[in-house]
Amino acid sequence: MSLSQEIIEQFNQAFKQAKVSGEPEPTAMVLATSDCEGLVTSRTVLLKALDANGFVFFTNTHSMKGKQIAACPRAAATFLWKASSCQVQLVGSVKQISAEAADVYFATRDRGSQISAWASRQSEPLDSRETLLQRVRDLERKYEHVEVPRPPHWTGYVLSPESVEFWTQREFRLHDRFLYTIDDGVWTKQRLNP
Ligand SMILES: Cc1cc2nc3c(=O)[nH]c(=O)nc-3n(C[C@H](O)[C@H](O)[C@H](O)COP(=O)(O)O)c2cc1C
Repeated sequence: MSLSQEIIEQFNQAFKQAKVSGEPEPTAMVLATSDCEGLVTSRTVLLKALDANGFVFFTNTHSMKGKQIAACPRAAATFLWKASSCQVQLVGSVKQISAEAADVYFATRDRGSQISAWASRQSEPLDSRETLLQRVRDLERKYEHVEVPRPPHWTGYVLSPESVEFWTQREFRLHDRFLYTIDDGVWTKQRLNP
């Protein structure tokens, strides 16, 4: 399912407004995932791309979120832009982007982040910070003078929304809420009570 141009434009406009209003981390979204038993977890990830396919973020496939997405490929995400009094909520399906696209993005990351993608066994217990730093030193030696390849367990995911809601604060809690939903490939927009 692909996003309509209207939704993308609406999002880009609200994102720009958040940025000019001084939002410190406008790409940050709280991503909720769940397993098959209904255990829901959430955490912040950064939005790295947006097109008609949806909202792209990068992470470790072995992490809690990675495991939950593998078991139940659906998610919700919320952007809170306090500086511009706006919130955007997404609900939809999630899938991995292509290995080629993940390689392209990984290559743009600074070397320290590339090494840390190998060093961190994300979401697993870690006995000490020194263990992690030792792994980093070992990896720096391993990849000295060569490009760091993308770890196979580190990739991008695209959240393809089936609903997108824009919330804007108004006085006396009479906020504006506009919900876009898709049915049979057709997006419709409706206003919701605040
Ligand atoms: C502002 C902010 C941005 C973050 N961005 C990412 C991200 O893009 N990808 C990621 O894997 N973790 C990111 N994290 C860390 C996650 O919130 C989380 O700790 C980590 O992904 C492990 O989550 P999980 O154990 O629920 O899978 C970010 C944290 C913060 C506070």
